[in-house]
Amino acid sequence: MNIARLARLGYAALTRDPHPPPCVLGAEDALSSLRSALPAGFLLGTATASHQIEGGLDNDWTDWERGAHPGGEPHIKDRAVSGAACDSWSRIDEDIGLMRRLGANAYRFSVEWSRLEPTEGAWNEDAADRYLAWANALRAAGIEPMVTIHHFTLPRWVATQGGWMNDRTIELLAAFARRVAKKLGSAVDLWCTINEPSVVAALSYVKGIFPPGLEDPRIAAHVMARMLKAHARMTEAIREVDTTDADGDGRATRIGIAHHVRIFQPATRSPLDRLVAGLTDRFFNEAVASAPFTGRIELAIPGVVEVDEAVPGLLGSFDYMGINYYTRDHVKADLRDPALSKQFVPADRPVNDLGWEIYPEGLYQVLKRYGALGLPVYVTENGIPDKSGDVRPSFLRSHFEALVRAAREGVDVRGYFHWSLLDNFEWAEGYEPRFGLFRVDFDSPDKRRSPTPAVETFQEIARGLGLEPEAG
Ligand code: NOJ
Repeated sequence: MNIARLARLGYAALTRDPHPPPCVLGAEDALSSLRSALPAGFLLGTATASHQIEGGLDNDWTDWERGAHPGGEPHIKDRAVSGAACDSWSRIDEDIGLMRRLGANAYRFSVEWSRLEPTEGAWNEDAADRYLAWANALRAAGIEPMVTIHHFTLPRWVATQGGWMNDRTIELLAAFARRVAKKLGSAVDLWCTINEPSVVAALSYVKGIFPPGLEDPRIAAHVMARMLKAHARMTEAIREVDTTDADGDGRATRIGIAHHVRIFQPATRSPLDRLVAGLTDRFFNEAVASAPFTGRIELAIPGVVEVDEAVPGLLGSFDYMGINYYTRDHVKADLRDPALSKQFVPADRPVNDLGWEIYPEGLYQVLKRYGALGLPVYVTENGIPDKSGDVRPSFLRSHFEALVRAAREGVDVRGYFHWSLLDNFEWAEGYEPRFGLFRVDFDSPDKRRSPTPAVETFQEIARGLGLEPEAG
């Protein structure tokens, strides 16, 4: 990397706090008069992903789930495997019933590439028909579908060719997106091409806890670049083949990425902590968020890797900014760590079951920051692992309140999808974390669903928006 660029990056990281100041929550009842605060047609829903709920899958993750790290520790906590998961593949009607009970008017789910294209060139039309039937059933129930095309998993045949380390995956995924959009386009307008590129880069290629389990930031940067290139190609493909305006708003497609945004709070005022927090923010948050405005992929870890490339089709490839928001990290520089820092939560801050800080003000901050870019925003995920079920109501209330604040201050926020409808397979953490508005009894043959206390909070928000939860 040249010195001038390094100096520019360092200067920006040191002098600019990218996040606006947090708001004060709880000072007024922000959940009152929701209809005047939020736009007509606001989407209130839940989000899930195929591998985490469908059951019966066979992909790179199912292989990974059976393995262990070089030190002998299993890849998945308690040696859990995704297995039958929530059996949602066969229970969509029941799940739509739960959504109606919530009063939701939207649902974000993903299609499973390994199911639809189990081997290269093969196509499972029955599975495609079932996804189409889901989308139609949702629409018939007054629930707008948002479909994610790639949510972490790869078919085995793609993974064995190198997965995200192979340029070919870009075209393979674009071809898959074209096929999915052609099949589902009559019922789907809202598309999410890729879920959380920065998380895939960080957890699969820096921290080594997702497949393929590598710890090399240089590879991570190139993976992220490939994912953004794939997004650009997928967007072109979807726009080309999905020409049906399913929701009657005058547009056949609205396309974005579900981008995981975290707040990287320097642990101290020291220039080194601020520098490292700023660089982490650029790599993790900013590279994806700025790409559709610059048409470039700009990623740098000084002295380690730099990608600076114009990508055809990237400019203007987001119709909305999708934000997955969960928490804030406090960043302490540690130049021996591959990520250049250690991230922690101060002892006096509230945390959830996975030890993540509960920081609703952060949702306001990220909405203000990314809402200022001029695109409509959807909160494509927000939720909490909470086994007791007792913390989720206040979590949901305070985060929704933060969203309403941002909307009242002019952010064009069009929807909120709670993660998740159901308890589900939480990747390397297995089945222990409970994210569901509905608890799932994984030991029961019918994967019995039962409401957690936050169902009432969700219903209250739904009523505030003029939606009508059905009696349970
Ligand atoms: C984001 C991911 O998209 C989802 O798959 C995961 O379960 C949630 N975060 C919770 O960690």
